[in-house]
Amino acid sequence: MNVLLVGSGGREHALAWKIKQSPLVKRLVVAPGNPGMAPLAELRPGVKATDADAIVQLVREIRADLVVIGPESALEAGVSDRMAQLGVPCFGPSSRAARLETSKAYTKQFCERRDIPTAGYGVYTTAAGAKAALQHFQPPYVIKADGLAAGKGVAIAQDRQQAEAEIEAMIGGRFGSAGGQLVIEEFMAGEEASLFALCDGETAMLFGGAQDHKRAFDGDTGPNTGGMGAYSPAPIFTQAMVEAARDRIVMPTVQGMAAEGAPYRGVLYAGLMVEDEQPRLVEFNARFGDPECQVLMLRLRSDIVPYLHAAATGGLSRMAEPMWRNESAICVVLAARGYPDSPIPGSVIRGLEQDFGRGVAIFHAGTARKTDGAFTAAGGRVLNVCALGVDIADARERAYEAVRKIDWPGGFHRSDIGWRALERG
Ligand code: AMP
Ligand code: GLY
Repeated sequence: MNVLLVGSGGREHALAWKIKQSPLVKRLVVAPGNPGMAPLAELRPGVKATDADAIVQLVREIRADLVVIGPESALEAGVSDRMAQLGVPCFGPSSRAARLETSKAYTKQFCERRDIPTAGYGVYTTAAGAKAALQHFQPPYVIKADGLAAGKGVAIAQDRQQAEAEIEAMIGGRFGSAGGQLVIEEFMAGEEASLFALCDGETAMLFGGAQDHKRAFDGDTGPNTGGMGAYSPAPIFTQAMVEAARDRIVMPTVQGMAAEGAPYRGVLYAGLMVEDEQPRLVEFNARFGDPECQVLMLRLRSDIVPYLHAAATGGLSRMAEPMWRNESAICVVLAARGYPDSPIPGSVIRGLEQDFGRGVAIFHAGTARKTDGAFTAAGGRVLNVCALGVDIADARERAYEAVRKIDWPGGFHRSDIGWRALERG
């Protein structure tokens, strides 16, 4: 099978690493890819993930049998729609189905129609309307830009004045057209968890869970980021919680999308808020989490390719449940100094090409390679240091041991990834 993987981050490096292990795969091409993937796959650095025309051309050139889309930007750009037109199996929803991630207003209305547990909300198109509506909510106020805003479109305001300022800024175009509509939500208390399910348009199959750390610094302080680390499994995934999430959130979503003429194919990432083992939906994403995907790939024992193919083409209901290692996995993100506001590019990273030992994987998220072969920082989140261990404590020790072997004065990382799971014992 010839597989084209679309994307360039740590999530895609982890997917490439896992896909490459499949005996079914003859050729793996990544567009655009990153220099860390070079030993695993053919890279096409000139083909952007959002350039649907270039991807169509590449699919024809390599006669791809399966296209796997990593990032939401490619979904929004219609890459999956174009693959449907070509008749090439594609893992990743159509742009209509991806509205579950690309439009928060659409998703809240969908949840209301389908009776999916989530926070109460209102949708507003003017600053005046949104401000007036604040009286119907209690602080803290949760205010969200409708569209994609690279994980930064959510503000939690402690009082009315701050809420009004956020509304002004979002409607005023801080996120461009993403802020044209606003959602105001009821604040949900609890603990967050990320649940993944593969969907083939008709049915869904749970595909692991993880927790990530969104804040930049230790103790969950500092600005919000795309995620500074992740671990799996997490003690919050009790059987009762997972079953409730499957029955009340995941299954009604895949069935509802089919009934509404936008069948969902790919991975559905349900961001949950859990209180007393009861999950409520915070948000959907239409792709794997980054860095949650990295820990799932380390733990996945089954060949991933038949699952990706079945999600793309139908037939998930005939597949056996995937097998997972009993071990735990942790991912520590190394970011460039200044991330998330203004990461400083170009610093040299040494020590990447050594043997880190069994159960350790280093995925590249934002590196470049100089002509002399040296790796440099070329993004905010730059490296993902991942390790398996007998439990979270062991995995964490192994991951930080690997972090210490990497010589990168231009980077920083959190030193407490997994603290919540460890605290619970
Ligand atoms: P989102 O982009 O919708 O995932 O929101 C980003 C973050 O804001 C989430 O990971 C939560 O920590 C927080 N958040 C979003 N919506 C709510 C809510 N209704 N109640 C409490 N926290 C929320
Ligand atoms: N780690 C959170 C996300 O991928 O959206």
